[in-house]
Amino acid sequence: QRLVEVQPYLQPFCLSAQQLQDVSARLQKDLIRGLGKHTHHKAPVKMLPTFVRATPDGSERGQFLALDLGGTNFRVLHVRVQKDGQETDSKICAIPQEMMQGPGEQLFDHIAACLGDFIMAQNLKEQSLPLGFTFSFPCEQKEIDKSILIRWTKGFNCSGVEGQDVVKLLKEAVHRRRDYDIGPVAMVNDTVGTMMSCGYKDQRCEIGMIIGTGTNACYMEEMRNVQRVEGNDGRMCINTEWGGFGDDGYLDDIRTEFDVEVDRTSINAGVHIFEKMISGMYLGEIVRLLLLRLAADGLLFDGRTSEVLRRPSSFPTKFMSDMEEKDTGQENTQNILTELGLNWDPVDVRVVRLVCATVSSRSAHLCAAALATVADRIRANRGLDHLKITVGVDGTVYRKHPTFSQRLQAMVRLLAPQCDISFLVSEDGSGKGAAMVTAVSQRLALQSR
Ligand code: BG6
Ligand code: GLC
Repeated sequence: QRLVEVQPYLQPFCLSAQQLQDVSARLQKDLIRGLGKHTHHKAPVKMLPTFVRATPDGSERGQFLALDLGGTNFRVLHVRVQKDGQETDSKICAIPQEMMQGPGEQLFDHIAACLGDFIMAQNLKEQSLPLGFTFSFPCEQKEIDKSILIRWTKGFNCSGVEGQDVVKLLKEAVHRRRDYDIGPVAMVNDTVGTMMSCGYKDQRCEIGMIIGTGTNACYMEEMRNVQRVEGNDGRMCINTEWGGFGDDGYLDDIRTEFDVEVDRTSINAGVHIFEKMISGMYLGEIVRLLLLRLAADGLLFDGRTSEVLRRPSSFPTKFMSDMEEKDTGQENTQNILTELGLNWDPVDVRVVRLVCATVSSRSAHLCAAALATVADRIRANRGLDHLKITVGVDGTVYRKHPTFSQRLQAMVRLLAPQCDISFLVSEDGSGKGAAMVTAVSQRLALQSR
């Protein structure tokens, strides 16, 4: 009975194929707006040129340093790209919570210190190696080594960085230390790093997608459509920043009151509306708000909640993965609810699992709609009836959630029937891809000599 009574609360999260097609059609319009010379200034989907003009062809070689900032972990890497494959050494470096929202200079000093320690430990001090910097925030790139931060997203909000060239801030921080130096820097978004690292293995990989703390995708666009960069020949990778879809109100009809509340209480209210319906930083919070509402209306926990559950962010997205697990999910749910200080009965457990599945399915389906739009755009760009393409993917939601990837893939197939899409999860992250970007640009420079 209660399972029926909760339906009206969950219904707004269940988007039909028709609704998803409609979302996809709207995104298609927004991609075009973002690419346009005269329309991009106000476009919510930013479609940022990346100055990456080619994916790897497998002939790249060399030694590189890489930084990977903006996902769950900040990593420093040393990548060797050789004939018989790649070798990577890497280290995770913690970034304290206060630093993510403190002065920018402090953040960059910390990055330079982590890089310095790593260089010393790896004995690379004398080499000034080229560096690929995966920086997973929206940047207006002027060149591969000039990248202005448009705005922080996700959990970061450091002062004095928006509007600044991130490469310059990094170099200044390195030079303040005076104990090591770095070579030329290539800046990439994590979607680009992911596409490039998967592209080394599979040359059909021309889309990079992240579903983790945040969500976003990049893809290879025809230069003739990239009106903000000179030249009409060849292709360029575009960082869509699809997380910003809906920032102009375009998705208001499908947002629920819970989405509105998650946005209102976030550190960047009003921006990245699509991302807030999809990614790991927000999904658990949507579930938490739903559980509180169901309890308040007497449909869960005998009408009572707990102090812990009433605290913002007390329900991380990882709980959803644990609860939706096929074999262990029921027991996991019982344990988590107890841990949260809730008094539950067996029906509560079923309702809570249903809530999680509803919220994560919507996320997978919205991602599918967005991915279908991008893949179909590539197909149409090339005048093909049928496109075979690979998507390089990363992010904790995609990797760790038990059913997310299947749901996403099934829905993409339905929404983009003319595209045959394969999915490749990137191996040890996008830092390697940043090194590949450096390697590809060196290869192209050599070839054009
Ligand atoms: C990592 C990549 O594996 O995935 C990062 O190396 C990326 O560049 C991250 O930002 C995204 O996932 P999450 O879940 O850590 O935000
Ligand atoms: C956020 C960032 C974007 C990044 C994504 C995934 O949406 O703005 O640049 O790619 O998160 O990490």
